[in-house]
Amino acid sequence: MTGRLLNDDALHASAVVANNAMNRERQLAGVNSYTRELGFNPLDWLTVRMRSKGQDTVSMGWLDLCCGTGRALLQAAEHLAAAGLSDRATLVGVDLVDTFDPIPRSGPVPQLVCASVTDWQPPRRFDLITCVHGLHYVGDKLGLLVRAATWLTDTGMFVADLDLTSIRLAGGQPAGPRLTTALRRAGFPYDARRHRVTRTGPRHVDLPYRYLGADDRAGPNYTGQPAIHSIYDIID
Ligand SMILES: C[S@@+](CC[C@H](N)C(=O)[O-])C[C@H]1O[C@@H](n2cnc3c(N)ncnc32)[C@H](O)[C@@H]1O
Repeated sequence: MTGRLLNDDALHASAVVANNAMNRERQLAGVNSYTRELGFNPLDWLTVRMRSKGQDTVSMGWLDLCCGTGRALLQAAEHLAAAGLSDRATLVGVDLVDTFDPIPRSGPVPQLVCASVTDWQPPRRFDLITCVHGLHYVGDKLGLLVRAATWLTDTGMFVADLDLTSIRLAGGQPAGPRLTTALRRAGFPYDARRHRVTRTGPRHVDLPYRYLGADDRAGPNYTGQPAIHSIYDIID
């Protein structure tokens, strides 16, 4: 075994994860934004589907994992209110650190929850689940993918930034193409160029990997920021 293995408590206290200099302020659209990182505007994505489903459908849900300040959700809530669509959407953000932007005194608000995504339980299923540059700091990344897959509505979409080289085996080597194949077979195509994992629709998924712990001394990843390695055993 190379490197060190931190459990979640130690990881959450690590300077790499509890890092004040992290970019937690992405907006919904514009230069430093979800639209730019994801390649689509989550609000537009939701409203197109709302309108195509007609007036009487139950509300659509957007869950943002590792939401940072929650700014993108707060801005989406404002736009929905202005369009008279507030009662058609449920917006939820979860972050380990309570650095949420102030919630407006009036109008619809997203639910911003201070918790670790590794043990948080959702109140409902979601049409859209995003995780923008959050997985880089989560210990059991594959466990989160497996759980989030069960939180999607039938046509729901999950999209997350993921650096697959940060998923390592106990010997220290990247899990490599075998993991990419396992993810694809489980319905999580991985775009290596964009460092992005996606899936559509819910499913109980098994990935043949057992989480051992995290190493917070991995150094910078492709974003240029220090990130962590997540260490796994292969289950044969
Ligand atoms: C680089 S920031 C991105 C924040 C936001 N998505 C954005 O783009 O503005 C990564 C976020 O992941 C959060 N985070 C790290 N580990 C987490 C965990 N286990 N559960 C919930 N949030 C976590 C951090 O607190 C931080 O706010």
